[in-house]
Amino acid sequence: MTPNEFAATIRSIPDYPKPGILFRDITTLLGDPRAFRRAVDELVQPFAGAKIAKVAGIEARGFILGGAVAHQLSAGFVPIRKKGKLPHQTVRMAYALEYGQDEIEMHVDAVTRGEQVLLVDDLVATGGTAVGAVQLLRECGAQVVAACFVVDLPDLGGVAKLEALGVPVRSLVSFP
Ligand code: PRP
Ligand code: ADE
Repeated sequence: MTPNEFAATIRSIPDYPKPGILFRDITTLLGDPRAFRRAVDELVQPFAGAKIAKVAGIEARGFILGGAVAHQLSAGFVPIRKKGKLPHQTVRMAYALEYGQDEIEMHVDAVTRGEQVLLVDDLVATGGTAVGAVQLLRECGAQVVAACFVVDLPDLGGVAKLEALGVPVRSLVSFP
């Protein structure tokens, strides 16, 4: 599918969750069988054969895509969750995003030193969430091979922040 075809499956909602935010709602893409399959296939394609040990997905929409990507790559899955949800010992990072701030966590033993990890989320905007996730993964010894997203909002600068950290980025659709 072309970027325009993916874009046509994504719903845009003005003033959600706050006035001035144009929310890119990927639930419509997920509900379209062809678009969901093609999105997962295209996220996976550059990493087939790359020896990805684990896929890390960011709560909540990154779990849906990341689980499917992990299955396709025969990799393990690492949940990166909003604070207070994981039962075992965690590392935690505060971060800011387009419409607020929060904290994410992962289990300290979710990755082993030197393990190759692919980070997956539905969307990158300011990059606050994904940069926080890269920091947590690196703190636990992972080698973050790349980060991939269905949607990139390039005006908000997240991809540039990830690339400055040495993390290559793949996305399927850009909404300028
Ligand atoms: C959205 C999206 C990313 C993040 C991107 O998640 O799924 O995780 O925002 O924004 P950033 O690049 O500015 O950090 P949200 O925090 O809305 O959580 P949700 O998936 O639980 O709805
Ligand atoms: N996360 C941060 N900004 C967003 C947006 N505009 N749409 C959907 N998710 C987002």
